[in-house]
Amino acid sequence: MRVHSLAKYLLLVGFITFLVNAFLKTGYFDSKNNDKQTPITADLFKVISPSTYRFILNQPAACEQNPDLVLLVPVAPGDSESRNAVRGTWGKRDVVPNKKIIKLFFIGVLEGEQNDKVNDGLTRENLLHGDIILMDFLDSYHNLTVKTMMMMSWIANYCRSASYVMKIDADIFLNIYYLINFLPFPPKANFITGSVINDGAPRRNAKSKWYLSEEVYPDSTFPPYLSGAGYVFTTDLAAKISLAPSRYVRPIPMEDVYVGLCLKKVGVRPVYGRSMFWLRNLFEVRHLPYDRCAFAKLIIVTDFPPAELLRTWSDFEKEHDAC
Ligand SMILES: *[C@@H]1O[C@H](CO)[C@@H](O)[C@H](O)[C@H]1NC(C)=O
Repeated sequence: MRVHSLAKYLLLVGFITFLVNAFLKTGYFDSKNNDKQTPITADLFKVISPSTYRFILNQPAACEQNPDLVLLVPVAPGDSESRNAVRGTWGKRDVVPNKKIIKLFFIGVLEGEQNDKVNDGLTRENLLHGDIILMDFLDSYHNLTVKTMMMMSWIANYCRSASYVMKIDADIFLNIYYLINFLPFPPKANFITGSVINDGAPRRNAKSKWYLSEEVYPDSTFPPYLSGAGYVFTTDLAAKISLAPSRYVRPIPMEDVYVGLCLKKVGVRPVYGRSMFWLRNLFEVRHLPYDRCAFAKLIIVTDFPPAELLRTWSDFEKEHDAC
């Protein structure tokens, strides 16, 4: 009798194991993508891992007052002109009454001798403004993916109390007034919006600026991703993007596509940023000449060099309400 019940027991255990396996293999927990869960190599992971890099300047207390919105601005080390334009326009302190908005610049280092001088300048600039995060990765076009992932990790470590995060380039006209009204408070989970690109594909021509070999990126299409000029997301997504996917998503030197790959991995679809009634596109990825009342109905417009941003902002700040 004992042998009999042991056999029954083993049969039951075997059956349950079989069910659990079948359940996992159908990809039930990972229904949004069917690719294999093979972690990337340790060397590749090191490139994208926050533990590889150290802070030279950090702002660990920046989010103490639970900001409604944190603006993260990637900028080149020597580009103090762009930083000052942002500080004087949409990145101003108390730019929207009754909303707590902060901005932080993300910067890497330069190679060689010029670096010490630039870092001294950044330290002085930071003493005045307290808005610089400087990390010791090389600040290059190809390392923008690293910079973006360091932003995600910074939010996850130092700023979970914020409601929203926006990644925005410095040469963008940002209608911060429209944006803050557009965002729902309290925030929902897993929300990310901007200008969604649905039909992206890797360039296989080795001469292209955006060339990707089949070895680095085997798929023939990109998942939906957001134009890197400016996109907004709920704070909870920063940790998900920075932690879970990076062990599985091979780094590619296109930071906006990389974030799209991470979103696919965590099963979150980016939402096209449109106006409520007329479904107008709110994230304009073309340059438009400044027009106060046209800009009052948009969130971003691209390609605003520092001088043009400063020149147009004082008009917009005073008069946008009148449109
Ligand atoms: C990215 O940064 C790392 C760390 O500084 C550096 O070793 C690497 O060469 C950089 N990569 C590129 C493509 O600039």
